[in-house]
Amino acid sequence: MRRIVHISDLHFGNNDPSLLQPLRKAIESIEPHFLVISGDLVEHASATEFEQARDFLRTLPKPQMVVPGNHDLAFYNFPQRATVGLATYKKYITDDLQPEYQDDEIAILGANTSRVWPIRGGSLSSLQLEQLAKDFAAISDGKVRILVTHHPFDLPEAQGHRLIVGHARRAITRLAPLVDILMAGHIHLSSTGSTAMRYKTQGHAIAFVQAGTAVSNRNKGETNSFNSLRVTSAKGGSKAAIIDRFTWRVESGEFYCKCSTAFRLESEGWARVERQVKPDAPIQVEEGDATPA
Ligand SMILES: [Fe+2]
Ligand SMILES: [Fe+2]
Repeated sequence: MRRIVHISDLHFGNNDPSLLQPLRKAIESIEPHFLVISGDLVEHASATEFEQARDFLRTLPKPQMVVPGNHDLAFYNFPQRATVGLATYKKYITDDLQPEYQDDEIAILGANTSRVWPIRGGSLSSLQLEQLAKDFAAISDGKVRILVTHHPFDLPEAQGHRLIVGHARRAITRLAPLVDILMAGHIHLSSTGSTAMRYKTQGHAIAFVQAGTAVSNRNKGETNSFNSLRVTSAKGGSKAAIIDRFTWRVESGEFYCKCSTAFRLESEGWARVERQVKPDAPIQVEEGDATPA
């Protein structure tokens, strides 16, 4: 079993500094094997903001993976966006735009979906898609295979399709047999689901996990939050995941596990098997059986 903490949309420069220490404390208490940061580290893409983001990430558990968001190119200054691009992000955060991590149980690949234009939306090029397909195909399907982007490939149907990344259907069709879980941010609303609903990916549905905004003031009607995933696999191809959503509670001044959702790999692909399991419910799969206990 692996615990992966997933934070997103920190927006340094437009964030609540009083949430940083509680966020760090909550992440440390989870003792994650891996930390994912799915973009929008900063608000205006200034060097000062990136310095703040970098300094904060340095205090969090490692290993980590970061992908850039649309705010990591200057959002409010188009000439700067067009000329500087991701140079400041690369200088202060990482110059690796195709990050990759593997251990015995999980394989996580990251991709950059942020572009100079459009300033809000993003896309995944056919070149990136083919590289991802090649890289995922080389990974043992006994591992839980995860793709991290800033822009989502899928959202709950009630949220429509306007905020979904460009060329998403092409990407999902290509990657569905190769990927187990999609992790993204961008819209500042938490959710989980399966690509079976929107894309009818017969036999290969992928689970998607959206993180809210961890510490920014740009709440879209939802309290600050982040996710912690527990994922596991067993011989015979059984896989399962529980997504714990941690939400800020102002009364107690802490992030707490508000709800947990269970997924498992079934004959049609990944499916949500229980919308609400007890927080900290144990997760396990037996050979040939992917049932979260
Ligand atoms: Fe954001
Ligand atoms: Fe964004």
